[in-house]
Amino acid sequence: MPTTKTPEETMFLAESLVRSINSPVCIALFGELGAGKTVFVKGLAKGLGIEDVIKSPTFVLMRSYSGRMKLRHIDLYRIKKEEEFLPFEEALMDEGITAIEWAERAGELLPEKRIDVIFKILHENNREIIINDYRN
Ligand SMILES: Nc1ncnc2c1ncn2[C@@H]1O[C@H](COP(=O)(O)OP(=O)(O)OP(=O)(O)O)[C@@H](O)[C@H]1O
Ligand SMILES: [Mg+2]
Repeated sequence: MPTTKTPEETMFLAESLVRSINSPVCIALFGELGAGKTVFVKGLAKGLGIEDVIKSPTFVLMRSYSGRMKLRHIDLYRIKKEEEFLPFEEALMDEGITAIEWAERAGELLPEKRIDVIFKILHENNREIIINDYRN
């Protein structure tokens, strides 16, 4: 099982993943509070050469950044119904990478062709991180 022992290792995993991506994709992030989803998005940003500070979009729901590819960072923690995800669906048709925290809240509206990243807190600083690629 892939595990990381520090936030830096989790970022590194995301950087390696994003280096292999050259076409638009949705990256759905699953895991409890504090599991490392935002840390992972910071790694995606770093891998794309984005130098902005990545702030969690918990209240604004979405932030966009420009790098080697565009990065959209969505956080669905505060949505109550799947339909509230609809305004963000068009982001998925776009040229960039769309990373979604609390992706399960989008339910059936998540695209089938996507990459799932599932985080489990094992210990204080240990995370199990499973990446499932459903693009093909
Ligand atoms: N191996 C690790 N990987 C990632 N984060 C870690 C690790 N070990 C400790 N941490 C800490 O766990 C926290 C993860 O926070 P983060 O904001 O990324 O969680 P999150 O999954 O986005 O939570 P939320 O659902 O609240 O948005 C950070 O404080 C980070 O320093
Ligand atoms: Mg977060």
